Amino acid sequence: MTGILGELTPERFLAEYWQKKPLLIRQAIPGFESPLSAEELAGLACEEEVESRLVESVGADGKPWQVTHGPMDEEIFARLPERDWTLLVQAVDHYVPEVAELLEQFSFIPRWRLDDIMISYAPPGGNVGPHVDNYDVFLLQGAGQRRWQLGGFQGEDAAIVDGISLRILKEFSISNDEEWVLEPGDMLYLPPRYAHHGISESSDCMTWSIGFRAPSADEAVTSWADYRGEQLSDAVRYADPDLGEQDSALLDDAAIERVRALILNSLDDREQMSEWFGRYMTQTKYPDQLIALEPSLDLATLRSALAEGEQLVRGQGSRFAYRPAPDGDADRATLFVDGDGIPCSLALAQQVAQGNQPLPIELLDDHGAAELLLALTNRGSLVLEESSEA
Ligand code: SIN
Ligand code: CO
Repeated sequence: MTGILGELTPERFLAEYWQKKPLLIRQAIPGFESPLSAEELAGLACEEEVESRLVESVGADGKPWQVTHGPMDEEIFARLPERDWTLLVQAVDHYVPEVAELLEQFSFIPRWRLDDIMISYAPPGGNVGPHVDNYDVFLLQGAGQRRWQLGGFQGEDAAIVDGISLRILKEFSISNDEEWVLEPGDMLYLPPRYAHHGISESSDCMTWSIGFRAPSADEAVTSWADYRGEQLSDAVRYADPDLGEQDSALLDDAAIERVRALILNSLDDREQMSEWFGRYMTQTKYPDQLIALEPSLDLATLRSALAEGEQLVRGQGSRFAYRPAPDGDADRATLFVDGDGIPCSLALAQQVAQGNQPLPIELLDDHGAAELLLALTNRGSLVLEESSEA
C-alpha cells in the first residue's frame, strides 16, 4: 500500500526533498473528500477563540490587499464579492477531530515540529499573493481546484510590497515550469522560503496547509538564555584575576574574552539544554486554550470514569514529546507536555507521548503513573471523553 507520499518512501522523501526541494504528489490521498464543508469552515471563523483571516485582493475601501482578522460575522460574509478573496482558518486540527486524523499520515516527521493544519476557502481568483513562508508546508487540495505557481528559493533580502499588511513578493516569476493545477487529494510539499502563489480556480476551493515550525535563532537564544538564567547563581560573575595595568578607559581584548567565556560557559550545558528544548517545543500554540479542570478530579473518580468506559485521550491542542534520560539511567525519561518537563519511566513517557490512541487503562495499575495521568488530566493536557465504542 502506498502512503501519503505516493510511491516515495518516507526515507527517500526525507533524504531528497525535506527542506531541500518542492515535490508534487498527485493523488496523495486518492479520492480525498474534505470532512469539513466551506460553511463549517466559515462557522469556525466566527468563533471567538479561533484564529482566522480574510484576505481580499481589493478591499471594501477599494484599496488592494485588505486583511480582516477574525472572529468573522454574518455581515462580513454578506458583503463579500463573488470572487478574489480567501478565508484562512488556523489550527483546524484543534477543533475538528476528523481533520486532526490526517496528522497520523505525517508521523515520519517529529510531531513537535508540527505547527497546525490551516484550511483556506476561496471562490475563483482568491489568493493571498505570491509570498514565501519560513516553514515547511504540505499543501493538500481539499476541494475544488487551485493553480500553484512556484518561484524558487528567496533570500532573506527578497523585496516585499510596502504599505500593506501582507508579505507579498515585489517580484515573482515562475521557476522551471513549476506550475500545476491541483485537484482534491493532490498535494504539494514546499521547503522553507520557496516562493509560491496559489490561485483558486473554482467556487469551492479549499486548501489544507499542514504547516511545520522551527524556532528562529533569535527566539531560541532568547528563550534558552531566559531558562538558563534562572538556574545560574548570582555569585558567578565577570572576574579578572589576570588584570594587568592598562589605560583606564580602554576596553581591551582580554575583557571581551573574559565576558565571552562567562557567557559561553554558562550557556553551553547540553543536559539543561535538552530539558529546555523539550519544554520549549511542546508549548501550546494557544496557551489560553489549555484549561485546568475545575474542580479537579481525584484518583478514585478518574479510575471509576475509566472503569465505566470513558477514555483518556490527548488534548487536541496539547503537545507531547519525550527524551530518554542521559546515559546510565536507561529506564528513565523526561516527558514533555505543554511546556513542562516531568521525570518518569521511559515506558510511561513513550506511552503518553506517542500516537493518538486512548491511553491504556492498565497504566493506572501503577500508582506513580496514575498520579502523573491524574495531574495531566487536571491541567487539561489529557482529556476524559466518552468512548466511541460505548
Ligand atoms: C492558501 O491556502 O490560500 C494559502 C496557503 C499558502 O500559500 O501558504
Ligand atoms: Co504560503
